[in-house]
Amino acid sequence: MSLRATAVAHPNIALSKYWGKRAGAGNFPAVPSLSLTLAGLATTTTVEFFALQRGGGEDELVLNGERVQGEPLVRATALLDRVRAASGLDARARIDTTNDFPTASGLASSASGFAALALAATRAAGLDWDSARVSDLARRSSASAARSVFGGLVELEAGVLAPIESGVLAARPLVPPGSIDLRVVVCVTSEEAKAHGSTDAMRATAERSPYYAAWLGEGPCLHATLKTAALAGDWSAVAPLAERSALAMHGCAMAAGFSYFRDATLRAMEAVRALRASGGAKSVFFTIDAGPHVKAFVRAAEADRVASELARVPGVLRTIVGAPGPGAHLLDEPTDSRNGER
Ligand code: DP6
Repeated sequence: MSLRATAVAHPNIALSKYWGKRAGAGNFPAVPSLSLTLAGLATTTTVEFFALQRGGGEDELVLNGERVQGEPLVRATALLDRVRAASGLDARARIDTTNDFPTASGLASSASGFAALALAATRAAGLDWDSARVSDLARRSSASAARSVFGGLVELEAGVLAPIESGVLAARPLVPPGSIDLRVVVCVTSEEAKAHGSTDAMRATAERSPYYAAWLGEGPCLHATLKTAALAGDWSAVAPLAERSALAMHGCAMAAGFSYFRDATLRAMEAVRALRASGGAKSVFFTIDAGPHVKAFVRAAEADRVASELARVPGVLRTIVGAPGPGAHLLDEPTDSRNGER
């Protein structure tokens, strides 16, 4: 039996944001979220288990061609330990992973990274898990990764609503990528790793932000209204809700001392508002994750115009246009326009 598998996963960009964890173990989110999985950016990950232990029995992580230790290896090993426990495989692994976009910069590399790792590791270990189980495994490492297991519009409920007794919480595909008239123009404002990892920043926000309780109240309401509008394809109703979700999340984090915005972030946000107000691109709206980049959602017909306008904003290094994309898949399995469900 081959103990090797390669998986590809794409980042996802949340329209209603996950920020904050339920108290206790298991990495359950405190608020529900809804995202779009993006083609155009990808993480490709190969996992190979070695029955004979190599290198002192440690797992090995190679990221973009360089051997990595410390926190990224600890998080990857924790996922592999769950796979080893479930499969009974007593073997160390080598993970070889490549991002075709900046890593750890707020472009959702942990989402695509852990989704690809969860799928590759389970398959390499001989586990034939369905997508929901893979999503639950990915969520335990990084909650946004649960959503990248599926394509198109994807929801991750808050942990408080999950069946706590079983401890399982997977994301759920809502709308397949082929029927979503949206593009995402990613305005890259830095090639560097972000200043504050989202895991630590959201924990500290929960402890220190005076607005965290308000966020916990607002997040689920925003999400519910936004989900109804998104399911109806009513993007003009989604627009203010998505911007509000991002700004509420950032306002809450900022009050705890975490500011991800740079000059170019603010300029790109203003450019999006100006394009909308002037009628240059009526459908455009923005979101921002735990990094300095601005992601502009726009109807497909306006995407090229918006991308070239935003590329002219001082401090925007380049733009990448992403279309709705598929869920995580094995490299030797064909993708289709479904949500990634198996
Ligand atoms: C701002 O999923 O990276 O992108 O579960 O601690 O790994 P952990 O956090 P992570 O947080 C993502 C936060 C966000 C919003 C979102 O994607 O919903």
